Amino acid sequence: MDNLIGGISHLSTDVISQDEDFWDNVRGGYRLKPDYINLENGYYCFLPQEILENYIHHLREINYQGSYYMRTVQWENKRKAAARLAQLAGCSAEELIITRNTTESLDMVIGGQDWKAGDEAVMAEQDYGSMLGMFRQVEKRYGVVNKVVSIPNHPSSDEEVVKLYENAITPKTKLLMVCHMVNITGQILPVRKICDMAHQRGVKVMVDGAHAFGHFRFSIPDLQCDFYGSSLHKWLSVPLGAGILYVKKEHINSIWPVFAPFEDKADDIYRLNNVGTHPVHTLLAINNAIDFYEKIGAERKEARLRYLQNYWTSKVRNLPHVVLNTPADPVRSCGIANVGIKGMKPTDLADTLLKKYSIYTVAIDGANVHGCRITPNIYTTPNELDKFVKALSDLG
Ligand SMILES: Cc1ncc(COP(=O)(O)O)c(C=O)c1O
Repeated sequence: MDNLIGGISHLSTDVISQDEDFWDNVRGGYRLKPDYINLENGYYCFLPQEILENYIHHLREINYQGSYYMRTVQWENKRKAAARLAQLAGCSAEELIITRNTTESLDMVIGGQDWKAGDEAVMAEQDYGSMLGMFRQVEKRYGVVNKVVSIPNHPSSDEEVVKLYENAITPKTKLLMVCHMVNITGQILPVRKICDMAHQRGVKVMVDGAHAFGHFRFSIPDLQCDFYGSSLHKWLSVPLGAGILYVKKEHINSIWPVFAPFEDKADDIYRLNNVGTHPVHTLLAINNAIDFYEKIGAERKEARLRYLQNYWTSKVRNLPHVVLNTPADPVRSCGIANVGIKGMKPTDLADTLLKKYSIYTVAIDGANVHGCRITPNIYTTPNELDKFVKALSDLG
């Protein structure tokens, strides 16, 4: 990999994003199933061999060290990995912990608020089911009132989206949840503008960044949000079962942790991080995943993912039988897009793509989104996408 990067480092990101020799070499680092073209990397993107081998090494080593590892460097190593993640996120290491996934991160924030009956929360029907479910739980448990908006698939401006959330806020609103990238469509939302608007109204903002971290570049402090959660097993190529939770320093004491810490220290984000004994080899592999990400280069990865999405969407966007549920504007999308065929149920489309064309995708049929979600990754080739475009064209 080092030689590979050395060979292209003089080229512009734009040029590299289309350098098929380079990306073919990256592809060579993955073990790919020959059964189908995998265009569903959104749930979990399996690891390149380099990270997998390191992960197995950590597993063996911790199995060898046993309790000695757990009683000596376990916590120090977790904090070191968290500090590297904080650096990637652009925030202080005192505001970020490693969790097991976005669900743990965000459900702790939702469930851990000091809710009173009549308090209100704002969210969108396009948000993820676990978090919507957690809001329904606090609704039942504490009498919280949930206001659910619906995000248009093709907004005409940031202001249209901001207004949508603003209209749902009342003097009783305490917390607003917003996706950084809507998982079912890949639409990137104007989070900073939503945070600014919400703060003017005294409302805290929790951002669901499950699909953003390791996908496209941003810094959490730039977003000005109060809470941010993401999963590292999606776009950062960390083994299954790792996520992050960012909590703005001033809110650390206000959350009730899911599992109480041994000792509840004020202003210490680790008061939110007691999950008992857990797979610590996964945490060590975070370092390998960050090394891999930095070698590829965050800017190059983002540019390649955007190039791949645009490569196929630009070929089908104007076909009369095709419906694209993702905005074309590069500031509103990156690697993920969603496509439907008029008159065809999304499950039938996914089924046909798999059985007839050997292309694996996932069907989405709800919240005003009817189509298949398409998530390539850096090992995906334009040639594979040509086959997908041909399949979509044939279905007319
Ligand atoms: C937007 C969004 N939020 C949260 C999650 C939950 O992620 P995890 O299962 O890793 O907790 C997902 C998973 O796909 C998601 O797409």
